[in-house]
Amino acid sequence: MLPLTIWVTLAFAAAAAAVPSRDGAHKLRERVVPPRGWTKRAPAPADHTIELRIALPQNDFPSLERHLYEVSDPYHERYGQHLSKEEVEALVAPHGESVHRVNEWLASHGLVEDALDRSPAKDWVMVKVPVSLAEEMLKTEYHVWTHDASGDAVIRTTSYSLPEWLDGHVELVQPTTAFSRMHALRTTFRFDSTSSAAPKLASDAPPISVPSASGGHVDASCNKTITITCIQQLYNAVGFAPSAKNGNQIGITGYLEQFANEADLQTFFAEQRPDAVGSSFKTVLVNGGVNNQTLDEAGAEANLDTQFAYGLTFPTPATFWSTGGSPPFKPDVLTPDNSNEPYLDWLAFVHKQKHIPQTISTSYADDEQTVPPSFAKRVCNEFAQLGARGVSLMFSSGDGGVGDGEEDPALQECFTNDGRNATRFVPLFPPSCPFVTGVGGTIHVPETAVFFSGGGFSDLFPRPAYQEAAVTKFLDTLAPGTYAGLFNPHGRAIPDVAAQADLFRIFLSGRAVSIGGTSAAAPTFAGIVSLLNSARLSAGRPPLGFLNPLVYALRGTPAFNDIATGNNPGCGTPGFNATKGWDPVTGVGTPNFGKLKEVVLGDLVL
Ligand SMILES: *[C@@H]1O[C@H](CO)[C@@H](O)[C@H](O)[C@H]1NC(C)=O
Ligand SMILES: *[C@@H]1O[C@H](CO)[C@@H](O)[C@H](O)[C@H]1NC(C)=O
Ligand SMILES: *[C@@H]1O[C@H](CO)[C@@H](O)[C@H](O)[C@H]1NC(C)=O
Ligand SMILES: *[C@@H]1O[C@H](CO)[C@@H](O)[C@H](O)[C@H]1NC(C)=O
Repeated sequence: MLPLTIWVTLAFAAAAAAVPSRDGAHKLRERVVPPRGWTKRAPAPADHTIELRIALPQNDFPSLERHLYEVSDPYHERYGQHLSKEEVEALVAPHGESVHRVNEWLASHGLVEDALDRSPAKDWVMVKVPVSLAEEMLKTEYHVWTHDASGDAVIRTTSYSLPEWLDGHVELVQPTTAFSRMHALRTTFRFDSTSSAAPKLASDAPPISVPSASGGHVDASCNKTITITCIQQLYNAVGFAPSAKNGNQIGITGYLEQFANEADLQTFFAEQRPDAVGSSFKTVLVNGGVNNQTLDEAGAEANLDTQFAYGLTFPTPATFWSTGGSPPFKPDVLTPDNSNEPYLDWLAFVHKQKHIPQTISTSYADDEQTVPPSFAKRVCNEFAQLGARGVSLMFSSGDGGVGDGEEDPALQECFTNDGRNATRFVPLFPPSCPFVTGVGGTIHVPETAVFFSGGGFSDLFPRPAYQEAAVTKFLDTLAPGTYAGLFNPHGRAIPDVAAQADLFRIFLSGRAVSIGGTSAAAPTFAGIVSLLNSARLSAGRPPLGFLNPLVYALRGTPAFNDIATGNNPGCGTPGFNATKGWDPVTGVGTPNFGKLKEVVLGDLVL
């Protein structure tokens, strides 16, 4: 992005010039190779409605980023002095000239203010148009594309153009080139054969000695079945009682038509958190999200996330966002297209809120290489806005180790999506965004890295300063030439942290099931973070906000349990090793709530 001074110069120059020709030459903005597994079908129906989302450049994102790092750096004097909604909006507001030119462009196609919907900062404009008009505006042709495996259909194009005089005034337009498919992160999902009988959660075996755990040991049963009690013991959180009334809240995002079932939650509470029976959470529907409480329609992902996050943080007020936008459009129906860009729908919704839960967990992601770079960068910057406002964002790091999790080599996607088909590891987005906290996975007690824990290096985002020392140290331990060409050694590295990720006992459609995936790790880690935020708020301190600078400042201290065994195979390789110090399997390790609490309350310098 250009520095501010140059923007001002350009703006004056433009204002002095004649009104630019409305048509003029178009310039190609983006051309993508559609990800494997999509097939081009018929031209899109001309009268089918799509909602174009036009992103205007955020005028002063570099300042927002500077504020974010200052208020998130535990050694900075501004630590914890988060920005207000209005302060963030002022920093990301587009330049007036951009608003003006985009208005001109839209008006030249008959689209005036009444037809437009704008974000609070005016950095997004949304407008519903027929495909025929979108094609004219973007000098492109839309087609119906189907996803081979699921049969889902979307209306997309592989390239689009904009008038040259919008250069520097429009960052991106979607839906155009984004074919990515977000998926729930969950590897294993099996019904527990013992579920109809009384649950055997206790074990006669002597407890397992874990020096960092509450009381120095963990129930023997936790090596086979993870419950709320196991997490509290293992992460040294037994006995901490968060407040229901200090303003602290926790939020879970749900996508892909998933909702959390309240009856299942009560069954879960009755078994694992009896004092929480009768308590519930608030479901907020975003853009056509669903909340069908029919018992056998609940989502495994939604139930897992809510049962563990809320089970760990009761009585903290809890929110579940059910965001629509999927399954995508059916080509035979002439209703407005679901954008199928659910992160944007959710972000647009929460950016408008005055109060946002301080801790938010998301267990959905896409293969980074399937997300158009312009789109990934903008969405990542939008996550930074939440961090600047004091929100901690946790994302599962992925369930395919260094690969995509596909066991059948013929179906593996360990290839670049740039037409070259070069072999490449597969980092996931959003965890590859440097402004969120990526959560990898462990298994068993004592803990070891779980084989599916997603980890690696972004091909899109350069390495942020906060992890430079930790990651360089790891890279120096690799034998020269290790996996050369398979990953970007200069990229943002994931994950940042880890938590238990398998053998979780939850309730689904009235039955106990055992479930795993980094899907389980993210809400578990988020639960611990929410307890820390509760301690902070009760002590009259601000919430933790963007966590990573603090996380890396505490690496190698007792605040985290360093995981140094296990590895994360994928793409036909054994993947990386969990090692002493940060590693691309378990990050800096799993949390020790007791130690972290002393640190964040300022009572312990590590
Ligand atoms: C935990 O389970 C794993 C896998 O079954 C086993 O190898 C390990 O010995 C067990 N740990 C303890 C302390 O029993
Ligand atoms: C929920 O789903 C069931 C089964 O698909 C359906 O019969 C019912 O009408 C749905 N209820 C609502 C409120 O959408
Ligand atoms: C890449 O792989 C796809 C699908 O397997 C194939 O259709 C295409 O021809 C390959 N491209 C190159 C350049 O090898
Ligand atoms: C992982 O550790 C094993 C055993 O020490 C070693 O042989 C292997 O080279 C290591 N792998 C990587 C990628 O460093």
